[in-house]
Amino acid sequence: MCGIVGYIGPREAYPIIITGLKRQEYRGYDSTGIALINENGLEVFKKKGKVAELELSLLGKPVNAHIGIGHTRWATHGEPSDVNAHPHKSNNEKLAIIHNGIIENYAQLKSELIKKGYSFKSETDTEVLVNFIEDIQKNTQSSLEEAVRIALKRVSGAYVILLLDEDNPDTIIAARKGSPLVIGIGKDEHFLGSDATPMLEYTKEVVYVNDYEIAIIKAGELILKNLGNERQMPYISKLDIELAAIEKGGYDHFMLKEIYEQPTTIYDCLRGRLDAEKGTITMKGIQDHIEALIHAPRYIIIACGTSWHAALEAEYIIEELCRIPVEVEYASEFRYRNPIINKGDVIIAVSQSGETADTLVAIEKAKEQGAFIFGIVNVVGSSISRASHAGAYTHAGPEIGVASTKAFTAQLAVLMMIALKIAKEKGTIENSRYMELLVELENIPEKVDAILKNGDLLKPIAEKYKDAGNALYLGRGYNFPIALEGALKLKEISYIHAEGYPAAEMKHGPIALVDKNLPVVFVATKDEYHAKIVSNIQEIKARKGKVIAIITEGDDLIPSMADDVFAVPTANEIIAPLLSVVPLQLLSYYIGVAKGCDVDKPRNLAKSVTVE
Ligand code: G6P
Repeated sequence: MCGIVGYIGPREAYPIIITGLKRQEYRGYDSTGIALINENGLEVFKKKGKVAELELSLLGKPVNAHIGIGHTRWATHGEPSDVNAHPHKSNNEKLAIIHNGIIENYAQLKSELIKKGYSFKSETDTEVLVNFIEDIQKNTQSSLEEAVRIALKRVSGAYVILLLDEDNPDTIIAARKGSPLVIGIGKDEHFLGSDATPMLEYTKEVVYVNDYEIAIIKAGELILKNLGNERQMPYISKLDIELAAIEKGGYDHFMLKEIYEQPTTIYDCLRGRLDAEKGTITMKGIQDHIEALIHAPRYIIIACGTSWHAALEAEYIIEELCRIPVEVEYASEFRYRNPIINKGDVIIAVSQSGETADTLVAIEKAKEQGAFIFGIVNVVGSSISRASHAGAYTHAGPEIGVASTKAFTAQLAVLMMIALKIAKEKGTIENSRYMELLVELENIPEKVDAILKNGDLLKPIAEKYKDAGNALYLGRGYNFPIALEGALKLKEISYIHAEGYPAAEMKHGPIALVDKNLPVVFVATKDEYHAKIVSNIQEIKARKGKVIAIITEGDDLIPSMADDVFAVPTANEIIAPLLSVVPLQLLSYYIGVAKGCDVDKPRNLAKSVTVE
């Protein structure tokens, strides 16, 4: 979590950093700060709250500079406050640091420094690191670069750090382990960010810094070294994101924009891969490793949050179509137990950001045990994409709203294509079924578009239930992961406590919650369990619960018993989750808006969770 931005070059650094921080706020937004070096020396301005609040407080302040760093925080050590906000200065006031990550051995380092007479203003691990660096500089008479290198060898945990030194006003020192760092290369200028968004309008040439690398950045020079002080050749990648992709484009919120983008993003995800007429799915990452994938005794899919729900959906689909056993694991659990990985097992990592610390470490651990890693990632060039042996991008474009929407449907589309391709190659799917599902998948963007055209029908439903204290989301089979995802969306966006459950399992506990005040959302599109879910609806109605049902167009049974319904177009049950999730996203959005919540930046959350 936390977003970092930096600039060095002929332009004014401050507006670049402020704009960059606003684009990085999805990574955390409880406090903000910047450090600049100008004729007054090293200046630090920081404040609890969002970037716009800091900006307002700095009107008329001396923020002119050609070098600077900025930070938007998601608190780990110490509550959100002015003092705990980054940047942190060292005791001699010469160094300023910003940090994304966690220094795990900070307590030990802090007590060593206190014994040496250092004092600390904040409760952060970051202030410990900057003083540790100052101390090394002092004791070894080494350059800042050398002191950083020595310090980082003693530090455990994850970090991206950017450092300014008042005595070296033409240099930014940066280093990375575990958290992302992108350096944009301009003519006699460099841009830094946790992702590429702060530099989009200035350059398309970027370097993704690797773990254990230190960058020494001057306006006209970028030097990369490893912790052994050996020069590394910067690998320059070309960005293919346009500025418009990260702007709201006339929508009130990024979340709404991203929900409405789904016909396009799903289309983009299928484009060039799926050809229903020819009956082909072209995915190089799959084709190049087809033998390993077909003969794998087992797939283990690891993910977190919404991506975990996509993984769970994939379990149902892959087991059905490919007849390969699938286990779905929370990355955070997988990495800390001693998982059994057998020869030939395939690990699939699913991640929107490609930076989630738990997922990243989990795949590194699996790699150590010889597993083949297939990454399904949205952000091009991200850490997970680079750590995987092969993979497929979801091509959903930048997702800014903290609650994931378009990335989820793109993940589902990719996973469905992978399942179909492997099933076809393995011979576990009949040709007629295969061809039918290809056509169904190809028609999805159009059907999502039709749902969105009716999106306003969800507004009165949202209004009706916005004051609920709890909600239950139920589904069976392919609709169960969608129930989980619907509940997660509501929690994230509206702070209403919501639980997703398998509809039948409801009788083993959650039914005790049902009363006239409890909204129960059924994902009840037509499938082979339809009669069963109808019975579950009746069980809720018999206890006076309020039923909101997502149904298939033409279903005239459920509307006769539910309090509210929203119909989605007909689709094969394997493909239908791509449709039924869309009204659930919109319902959460409208409830969040009706409650006055900050839907793009829900409290306590961050989009890219780069700490464990
Ligand atoms: C955070 C985000 C979620 C996301 C999860 C996993 O919790 O708020 O929206 O699903 O991280 O992130 P990833 O980038 O790995 O998909």
